[in-house]
Amino acid sequence: MKLRYFSHSAFQITTDSGKVILIDPFLDGNPTSPVKSDEVYADYILLTHAHGDHFGDTIKIAKKCNSTVIAVYELANYCIEKGLNAHNMHIGGSHEFEFGRVKFTIAHHGSLTSDNHFGGEPSGIIVTIDNKTLYHAGDTGIFLDMKLIGEMNRIDYALLPIGDNFTMGIDDAVKAAEFLNADVSIPIHFNTFPVIEASPNEFKSKIEAIGRKAIVLKYGQEIEL
Ligand code: NI
Ligand code: MN
Repeated sequence: MKLRYFSHSAFQITTDSGKVILIDPFLDGNPTSPVKSDEVYADYILLTHAHGDHFGDTIKIAKKCNSTVIAVYELANYCIEKGLNAHNMHIGGSHEFEFGRVKFTIAHHGSLTSDNHFGGEPSGIIVTIDNKTLYHAGDTGIFLDMKLIGEMNRIDYALLPIGDNFTMGIDDAVKAAEFLNADVSIPIHFNTFPVIEASPNEFKSKIEAIGRKAIVLKYGQEIEL
């Protein structure tokens, strides 16, 4: 499969069978994204929580592409009320989709929609596609249960927020990578706005200093996993 980074927490996964999955597609209002919502396609949209910098252009993209949104119950229902197709799940639950397996985890954060609806609990997402497992932490502080996530899943790629202020900062994200026993860590949720300025290269060196691997993706870059 291929993983493309749009900046912030937004990713595109293209499976070997050609399905396209977007995660947290915050593009049009995102000053760092090289791609806008009318340039992307999605069979599925995975959402970690309802905040505008994650929900992003979900409605626009899902209407254009007839995508299925996958999110926790309250946020999925909010999408259905907006006229979208959605599959509702919840924390601790996993489900096998045509593209692979999705499991929702806890995240310590909030989840209010931009029009003030309760979006349910914020979440992290474990996605297993084409024999690779990715953990997208969403927005969260560090939590000890990351150890359990790492014990029960072989995490090939951990996508971890490093921007501080709203989420983990660099040092907490390095500890998170250790808890998760992640093979490769990828920093997210930094430098989109001044309040979350952080150095992805500092994160990379601190990950390497504990004997682990990190990749800093450029905005728009796509890698083969
Ligand atoms: Ni948030
Ligand atoms: Mn955020």
